Amino acid sequence: MKSLVALLVSLVSFAAGAWTNGALWYDTNGHVVNAHGGGVLTHKGRFYLYGEHKIYSGRGNRAHAGVHMYSSTDLETWRDEGLVLQVEDKPGSDIEDGCILERPKIVHCVKTGKFVMFFHLELKGRGYNAARTGIAVADKVTGPYAFQRSLRPNAGKWPVEIPEKERNEATLRKFYEAERPWGGKAQIWGAHFNGGQMSRDMTVYVDRDAKAYHVFASENNSTLHVCELTDDYLDYTGRWTRIAALDWTEAPAICFKNGWYYLIGSGCTGWRPNAARSYRAKSIMGPWERLGNPAKGVNPKTKYGQEITWGGQSNYILELADGRALALFDLWNPKNQIDARLVWLPIDFAADNTISITWRDEYSLKGASASSGKR
Ligand code: DGJ
Repeated sequence: MKSLVALLVSLVSFAAGAWTNGALWYDTNGHVVNAHGGGVLTHKGRFYLYGEHKIYSGRGNRAHAGVHMYSSTDLETWRDEGLVLQVEDKPGSDIEDGCILERPKIVHCVKTGKFVMFFHLELKGRGYNAARTGIAVADKVTGPYAFQRSLRPNAGKWPVEIPEKERNEATLRKFYEAERPWGGKAQIWGAHFNGGQMSRDMTVYVDRDAKAYHVFASENNSTLHVCELTDDYLDYTGRWTRIAALDWTEAPAICFKNGWYYLIGSGCTGWRPNAARSYRAKSIMGPWERLGNPAKGVNPKTKYGQEITWGGQSNYILELADGRALALFDLWNPKNQIDARLVWLPIDFAADNTISITWRDEYSLKGASASSGKR
């Protein structure tokens, strides 16, 4: 009888596939869904939502738990899968309780069968100065994810656009620092050539040929780097490029549609919202072309409009097998991040190969099925 009821409940919710943007979302235990800055992996008939587990008060701006995962067949009914990567008590651990562990992204490597998690890591007590990438691996999608290492990528590697004959000290010095639009100077990639490139806000994108790319805000957040990963997704091939150079873009998220890669992101204003931005490219390695703010409309409850992305910041684009794509945002609340809210909106792809994302209080994704998930 119990299983019959569960079946009926799941059938009803499958038909619904709806959510309210900016509201608290609850899991099947009645607890608030606590997964921010993350993404959704589609695997064997289920959607896996994962992200930063936040806690009460300003302490929630540091990692005290880890990465929380939920699963669903309809993007509405969420089953708690628990903390799949946990911060460690051991003093000096890279992922020690109190570090900053943001924007985790999980990809499935079909070649090795492993699930690989990348995240932005800041070592405990060092603010945002470490600017490292963390990597963790699991045998099952639901973990546990075992922390492998943290690093600054691409030490000693040249961006592909620098010709062989220019790979010298003089070129590194030319790319040593840049003006911050709000005053002062910031070091850029030439200054980090030997020690490895800074890596903060990030996503990982698996392309149609199964090649994976780590895309992150580097050079003090002034410029995005697109870096090809090795076939096992555990390392970098050393092939990397700078995109959106000196545009000061954070929160990158990528999708592919009708022959174009699209990237959405935000400006750099800390936890405060700003206008979203978008880019498109024919190749993920670029060149990428600026398209402007894709956000449209106003959230009538808060009166926050497109000029501040309804109070939100992008974190991921979920590509569905039927060609639809959902842009996922967080409405941050830095004084109490456990109260940060989720906003999921469909991307509208226009005939001129531009994109827009219009605010909707509620959204119903009829027929979304993870069984035909993209990957
Ligand atoms: C903006 C980033 O997108 C967030 O992930 C977080 O790092 C905040 N900055 C911190 O101010």
